[in-house]
Amino acid sequence: MAPQVTSLAQLAEENSLHQKFIRDEDERPKVAYDQFSDDIPVISLAGIGESGSQRAEICRKIVAACEEWGIFQVVDHGVDSKLIDDMTRLAREFFALPAEEKLRFDMSGGKKGGFIVSSHLQGEAVQDWREIVTYFAYPVKARDYSRWPDKPAGWRVVTEAYSEQLMGLGCKLLEVLSEAMGLEKDALSQACLEMDQKVVVNFYPQCPQPNLTLGLKRHTDPGTITLLLQDQVGGLQATRDGGKTWITVLPVEGAFVVNLGDHGHYMSNGRFKNADHQAVVNSNSSRLSIATFQNPAPNAIVYPLKLREGEKAVMEEVITYMEMYKRKMSRDLELARLKKLAKEKRLQEEELQEKNKLKSCKGLEELLA
Ligand code: OGA
Ligand code: NI
Repeated sequence: MAPQVTSLAQLAEENSLHQKFIRDEDERPKVAYDQFSDDIPVISLAGIGESGSQRAEICRKIVAACEEWGIFQVVDHGVDSKLIDDMTRLAREFFALPAEEKLRFDMSGGKKGGFIVSSHLQGEAVQDWREIVTYFAYPVKARDYSRWPDKPAGWRVVTEAYSEQLMGLGCKLLEVLSEAMGLEKDALSQACLEMDQKVVVNFYPQCPQPNLTLGLKRHTDPGTITLLLQDQVGGLQATRDGGKTWITVLPVEGAFVVNLGDHGHYMSNGRFKNADHQAVVNSNSSRLSIATFQNPAPNAIVYPLKLREGEKAVMEEVITYMEMYKRKMSRDLELARLKKLAKEKRLQEEELQEKNKLKSCKGLEELLA
């Protein structure tokens, strides 16, 4: 096996991209990282706490975006802007630490939480151009502080406060979606049992050949709802047609990009989309994003909460979130395996064709000699 890459910083300095990051043509970026689209609505949450027409209008916009894309952005969301600044600053400082400092929290051996470079599925041929640091923040009893960075100074205090405020925002948004489904406000939160929260801080270094690779390959998030804080560089892309066409989400200062995951999709019986997305990189600057995943507890039930008139359930059976996640993983692994096989076969065929071509050239030469 090729040695584990322990830092992308060093590869970022090279003139060409290392083979293991080069994607097949069909997976490569189709739209530039900074060719922004305003298709994803930016919604102000000011007044969402009050009852009346203002709240109704905000809810209407959120629901429309969930039906159309499964993505929207929120501003006036109530998360402290100083906290957002601190969180972003500390995250940048963490990735700027020397590799050996970051590797004190190495999770490549299967540890729960910590630091890893270009995490990729087992069996996958190509790796993502990113470094991450991740920690599990909720339920509180599941916190393992030995897996949380202890540098830069202040990390723990700031990340704890950030997690708490984002839990609040996530739950507020789930209330809106519950109501839109004709249910009690707390229906989705209740269905999650004890809500889990996992934070993934993504760092995408500058990349020598960004058109050949991805920072994070195309996927849907597995959980209920994700709150993504991104810097002003750009790189988050979404598709609604299975990857044929893409848009790049416009970075909005201080906003969170909210996207629904598979759990949210199933609970709404498919009414709300699970956002199909990826991250692209660029050669001009590095990019930072912080994804906060609000997920159900592992033993929570995954099944539509309500069927609308004339609807059939999008799921055949009632399963737990853990089971849903396992099935998603094994589907992804199987797809990766088939993709790898197909690629190997294609390469073999190309080689054979090349040989045959040479042979027939030789035959011709002999004939003409
Ligand atoms: C993720 C994700 C996108 C980004 O972490 O799941 O989709 O722009 N991130 O970093
Ligand atoms: Ni994602």
